[in-house]
Amino acid sequence: MDKKKNGFASGIGFVLAAAGSAVGLGNLWGFPYKTHDNGGAAFVLVYVACVLLIGVVTMMCEIFIGRRAQANPVSAFKKVGKNVGWLGVLAVLIPAFIACYYSVLGGYTVRFTVNSFAGNAGTFIPFAGSGLAVVIYTAVFIGMALVVVMAGVKGGIEAASKVLMPVLFLILVATAIFSLSLGEGVKEGLTFYLKPDFSKLSGTGILSAMGQAFYSLSLGMGAMIAYGSYTGKEINLVKSTAMICLCDTAVALLAGFAIFPAVYHYNVIHGSSAGAFQGVGLMFQTLPLVFEDLGTVGKIISFFFFAMVGIAAVTSVISLLEVVSQFIIQKFRVSRKKAVSVLALICFAVSIPVGISLGQVLGGKEGAITVFGQNLLDLFDIITNTVLMPVCAFFSCVTIGWILGPKKALGEMAEDGQKLGWFAPIFAVMVKYVTPLLIAAIEIFGVYDLIFPKNAEGLRIFSSNGLGITLCAYGLLAIGVILYFVFLRNTACGTNADEEA
Ligand code: PFF
Repeated sequence: MDKKKNGFASGIGFVLAAAGSAVGLGNLWGFPYKTHDNGGAAFVLVYVACVLLIGVVTMMCEIFIGRRAQANPVSAFKKVGKNVGWLGVLAVLIPAFIACYYSVLGGYTVRFTVNSFAGNAGTFIPFAGSGLAVVIYTAVFIGMALVVVMAGVKGGIEAASKVLMPVLFLILVATAIFSLSLGEGVKEGLTFYLKPDFSKLSGTGILSAMGQAFYSLSLGMGAMIAYGSYTGKEINLVKSTAMICLCDTAVALLAGFAIFPAVYHYNVIHGSSAGAFQGVGLMFQTLPLVFEDLGTVGKIISFFFFAMVGIAAVTSVISLLEVVSQFIIQKFRVSRKKAVSVLALICFAVSIPVGISLGQVLGGKEGAITVFGQNLLDLFDIITNTVLMPVCAFFSCVTIGWILGPKKALGEMAEDGQKLGWFAPIFAVMVKYVTPLLIAAIEIFGVYDLIFPKNAEGLRIFSSNGLGITLCAYGLLAIGVILYFVFLRNTACGTNADEEA
């Protein structure tokens, strides 16, 4: 076990890095706007239940799969069973796709941070449609992630997470306190956020909470497998998992406390409705208006707020790049520097059309680049988030629940000094039945919703575009499976020990 050479130096370092992966735009942006769109507090409760029922077990499985192999996701799944190694290919392909669109949004956060003092209100659509500026900020963002990943697991990822995560947390708490002290509108915001009204929660809302929990915890895409592989006996599996889930959920909940009171405050003063949340527009359109309204203080808060969102985004992209780099380094025996730079360059190249397409669609440009009626960012997001990630997470549980078997898994954990205690029997049942069933539901209903979306009258209608996207995603999955069986099944795919120090 050569993990000390390029693994995490400490348990807390691992937890912070994994929390860095988990805490991202999903928590600070996705969670608040989805909570708003799905009726508030009831959604929050379902979300927390999903973290407990799906998130904890899946995360434990993923960390365990990585750690027992001390290797990249392909080798890690291969170690569970030679015929499930293709899951590792999927676990490497998904983050590669996510990194390309996530970096565009990361670039937005950099731009909104540096532009805070000039004022961001009303600048979103022109900026998004600017082309060159988006490309430049995306490059800056990818550059930051690249520097960290290049410096390695201990010297880069762990070191950066140890500084960035506490900073993020402090800014978030400070922002939430400020927001709660705004006076008018705060009570209404809190009522919406904290007083459940289950009549407002639809089936789609529940599905959205499940998917959100998943994405937010960075599950189903190799991140926890890769990070888990860099840990050893010194790390307690259950405690680490609990802490990562807790951090991620706490940040999402705190983001609600930072955003709801402030936006309701703004709405009360300006007489506009809470509709100003505008789903996706929340982060880059609504919040800048709220900040502008607060004068100079608002500019300062805007700076720290967007810097915090940028930190959250960069630590997430770091994990995405690490998953893919780890595989390239170990499979092809290339240096970390080479692997990371080539990968970052490809990611940047792909992010250019993604950024341009999004800007064009947001600006309502005629002849905008779209595929199956979607801008490229949404297309990538749907392919990975709706279709592929649940497949990967489902099988992460199934490989432990049915292929390795909970008995063997728990035995291995015990040998490793990891006693699950009272949680062991619960884990055994959850990993075999409950969690995979819930994940299967996410996949099935997610795809159904894609192919038969609701129209304005709430009726389900067939969407050929939805079908096209679904076929595209499963086609990609098929390519991954073929690649595995042709090139990877019978060749060595490397382990952490193969990385040169
Ligand atoms: N969990 C991140 C978020 O909530 O924004 C997104 C993400 C990061 C997904 C890393 C996947 C991943 F590997």
